[in-house]
Amino acid sequence: MALYALGDLHLAFRSDKSMDQFGEVWVNHEDKILRNCREIVKDDDTLVLVGDHSWGNNLEQCGADLDFIAALPGQKILVRGNHDKFWQVNKTERLNKLYDGRLCFLQNNFYSYRDIALVGTKGYTWEGLDTMEHAEKLVRRELERLRVSFDAAQEAGFDRFIMFLHYPPTNIYETFSGFTQIAEEYRAEQVVYAHCHGKERWHDSLRGMFHGIQYSLVSGDYLNFRPKKLSY
Ligand SMILES: [Fe+2]
Ligand SMILES: [Fe+2]
Repeated sequence: MALYALGDLHLAFRSDKSMDQFGEVWVNHEDKILRNCREIVKDDDTLVLVGDHSWGNNLEQCGADLDFIAALPGQKILVRGNHDKFWQVNKTERLNKLYDGRLCFLQNNFYSYRDIALVGTKGYTWEGLDTMEHAEKLVRRELERLRVSFDAAQEAGFDRFIMFLHYPPTNIYETFSGFTQIAEEYRAEQVVYAHCHGKERWHDSLRGMFHGIQYSLVSGDYLNFRPKKLSY
């Protein structure tokens, strides 16, 4: 039994977005995902997919991508990414009912692996696209959602946490944010995130041990689409 994570699958079985233009690592990346997951992940393992699952604009366009993920081995837990247009926060319960455990959507709730609670939300990093006022509003909302997830796990009796975000936990080259603060407050053992594509973005945020927390980037191209083991 093991816990794995991988982010940014950016599947497009029903839409015309190809990732091939972003470099060799993206060519036939769906085949790599399938091959690597079948090789590494066993049926009793848990695989957390850390956002940007599909390029589709709605559930209909994303259906084939989500079915592809559902057919991967292990229990699949999904975190929202900035490109996941099929997943509005208020539809999380509906998605969980629809996929009935074949996929588990992590938002304002939590899942578990052994005695560890898996908590998380999309997060937010300022990338020059939003006004500061709007950015602050988005951060506040994401921090609230993250806290809901931690509190739900804590109320259920968990005191070990792994925290997942789609966005990096801090802005570029910073080591502190509301997200790292919450991770430290609840004593998360690990913070796992994705979103950063291309060599020039892999250094954007924390990686390795910092203030007693293990930070890991698991974006697909960073890992060459091999899921990273987080825990035995
Ligand atoms: Fe992405
Ligand atoms: Fe992203």
